[in-house]
Amino acid sequence: MQSSLQLIKNDLSPKLHVAIIMDGNGRWAVSRGLPRIAGHRVGAEAVRRTVTACPSLGVGTLTLYAFSSDNWRRPSAEVNALMRLLKIFMRKEIANSLKNGVRISVIGRRDRLSSSVLNAIETAERATINGQTLHLRIAIDYSAREAILRAAKRLSENPSNYQSLNQGTFSQLISDSAQTSAPDVDLLIRTSGEQRLSDFLLWECAYAEFFFTNRMWPDFDANDLASAVNNFLARDRRFGGLSKVAAS
Ligand code: FPP
Repeated sequence: MQSSLQLIKNDLSPKLHVAIIMDGNGRWAVSRGLPRIAGHRVGAEAVRRTVTACPSLGVGTLTLYAFSSDNWRRPSAEVNALMRLLKIFMRKEIANSLKNGVRISVIGRRDRLSSSVLNAIETAERATINGQTLHLRIAIDYSAREAILRAAKRLSENPSNYQSLNQGTFSQLISDSAQTSAPDVDLLIRTSGEQRLSDFLLWECAYAEFFFTNRMWPDFDANDLASAVNNFLARDRRFGGLSKVAAS
């Protein structure tokens, strides 16, 4: 039997922007009698699998919700472990990213990150800046509402921007920089059975298709991504207009 991963290869669409809320690490670990941190560690392996699977599935931009601004409320041991994992990921992924044409960038606030995490991020961003195959965006200390507010503040600081203000220019203002900017999200995936947006990419998901799966993030693999993309490709995106069939 063909796997869904093989099926999709015959049906490549223009490069997609997929965003993922990687949920369920804690429950995955607790259900196995492990500390929550173990779930995050195995979750980092799922990140590597997912990144590797993207190019052959037609995904050109992948945005991962790794640490929300509300996650600072978690116990400091868990926050520290997550920061450590992010730092290790940034350092370890440079070689792989260079080999596979992956450009790493980070969205979110940077002023509350430790200097070692910041350093690892900036090093990874600089080293991989020419990657053309996949833009991997990792959201750290990220809040979509805060990003929209920051854009509004930038606008008010430079009123000449009002003349040229439209959805496109506002999208640019929301991006932290040209390096991190990306097209709107096509497909938003959330794992672990939860069905909410949790302050993730509110502006960019205006016309995103949502895909919810009960799979816990540490178990997520290339076939899960392929199923989500296949499901997305079968949908009729109308953007408020009519479907091609109805319009003809
Ligand atoms: C949500 O699950 C997950 C997070 C808050 C962290 C996500 C981090 C990783 C997958 C690992 C590091 C990331 C990278 C990019 C290397 P949860 O802890 O809220 O799970 P629960 O809802 O079951 O408690």
